[in-house]
Amino acid sequence: MSYSTSATTTGAQEGATAKRGLWSSRLAFILAATGSAVGLGNIWKFPYITGENGGGAFVLVYLVCIAAVGIPIMMAEVLIGRRGGRSPVNSLRLIAERDKLHPAWKLVGVIGVLAAFLILSFYSVIGGWAVSYVGTAASGQLAGQTAESIGAIFSNLLSDPGTLLLWHTVFMALVMVVVARGVRAGLERAVSILMPGLFLLLLAVVAYAMTTGHFGQAVSFLFQPDFSKLTTSGVLVALGHAFFTLSLGMAIMMAYGSYLPKGISIAKTSITVSIMDTGVALLAGLAIFPIVFANGMEPGAGPGLIFQTLPLAFGQMPMGSLFGTLFFVLLIFAAWTSGISLLEPLVEWLEEQKGMNRTISTLVAGLACWGLGIASILSLNLWSDVAPLGMFAMFEGKTIFDLLDFLTANILLPLGGLLVAVFTGWFMSKQALKNELSLSDSSFKLWYNTLRYLTPVAVLVVFIYNLS
Ligand code: PFF
Repeated sequence: MSYSTSATTTGAQEGATAKRGLWSSRLAFILAATGSAVGLGNIWKFPYITGENGGGAFVLVYLVCIAAVGIPIMMAEVLIGRRGGRSPVNSLRLIAERDKLHPAWKLVGVIGVLAAFLILSFYSVIGGWAVSYVGTAASGQLAGQTAESIGAIFSNLLSDPGTLLLWHTVFMALVMVVVARGVRAGLERAVSILMPGLFLLLLAVVAYAMTTGHFGQAVSFLFQPDFSKLTTSGVLVALGHAFFTLSLGMAIMMAYGSYLPKGISIAKTSITVSIMDTGVALLAGLAIFPIVFANGMEPGAGPGLIFQTLPLAFGQMPMGSLFGTLFFVLLIFAAWTSGISLLEPLVEWLEEQKGMNRTISTLVAGLACWGLGIASILSLNLWSDVAPLGMFAMFEGKTIFDLLDFLTANILLPLGGLLVAVFTGWFMSKQALKNELSLSDSSFKLWYNTLRYLTPVAVLVVFIYNLS
């Protein structure tokens, strides 16, 4: 796989072919995994679903899901990848063979590839919104706008399928170019500069948000749980988002784990990535909600939330056009590194199984994803009344865009994660798990029991509640 850095042969693991490179360091793995994890999920999705689900209680459930479900599953995925030393489907097959398990376990990898493909199709449309906002900010259009006029810029964008298609195409092309050429040290280096850059700019917006006089209100909205506002579907959304934001349930962390040298702590690296990811999401919340309250906007405004609040803030702060442009450029970067990790599994699968070369497989996978993205674009305007599975109560009123988001985040990812937990906790050899993790006895027990009992039960309970 292309994320490999210049091959280090020391520590080459069982099952890995001599040609496969390994990450040059723990930091390289952390950067790539963080590049995948930190994306639109943190800055676009987390604030708007928090707004829609009433704030504090939702955030608390989300944090519990990250700690009790997300981190144990991330450790399991990285572990499977490192132990198998191959692409996810083959790692699962190899481990199943070695531990005398049913070969169908490799289907967990197949669910992952499918989910990643579906996600990228609408993820790229949102990435396109960010691309479009670079131009809006750079041309100084944000200055002096009101909440209403900023809202109008956003709704004009959504109602124009041609413009949406243009920016979706640009975003998808960015992703395809990198995946086709293989992700070299260049991107790794870029991520190591741009991610801290995004973090700093978010801090700058938080600092601005503190001056709005509504910071305290935002802090209590985010951190004071009011359980009367939490619904069971909110719990499902929080759980699904924990998977989405950590890039879990779709074998991506398995693929990355397969390049992790032995001797590097799986637990520490997984926890580091999760903390950074959660930190960016919470900062985004602290940047956005003070602006929402200060301008009498609606926290539950839905997917357009950050495209209306942040531009308003940039329009009001000194040098706002510059900061706004930089912010959206960095947002594109965050989305880009995640987009690459979403296309990679399908491309790798087409190469391995269909014998296509990398350029062709990128073209096939990328164009298919781009095509499906058009349906999401149309569902924002011309097809806004079309609800393909509307006859089922669960999908009532959901447009194609909503449906893809719901199906992937709330069903496919938790299902993939559940299967990973069951495979690791109930089927893989316990000794192999101990060897891979090299944890103290008590830490191992904590992880193992969480993965065996707590994680599957939590996912199942939330599932069953929502299906009934
Ligand atoms: N974690 C990314 C985000 O929060 O934006 C999105 C994502 C990337 C989801 C890769 C799943 C994935 F495999």
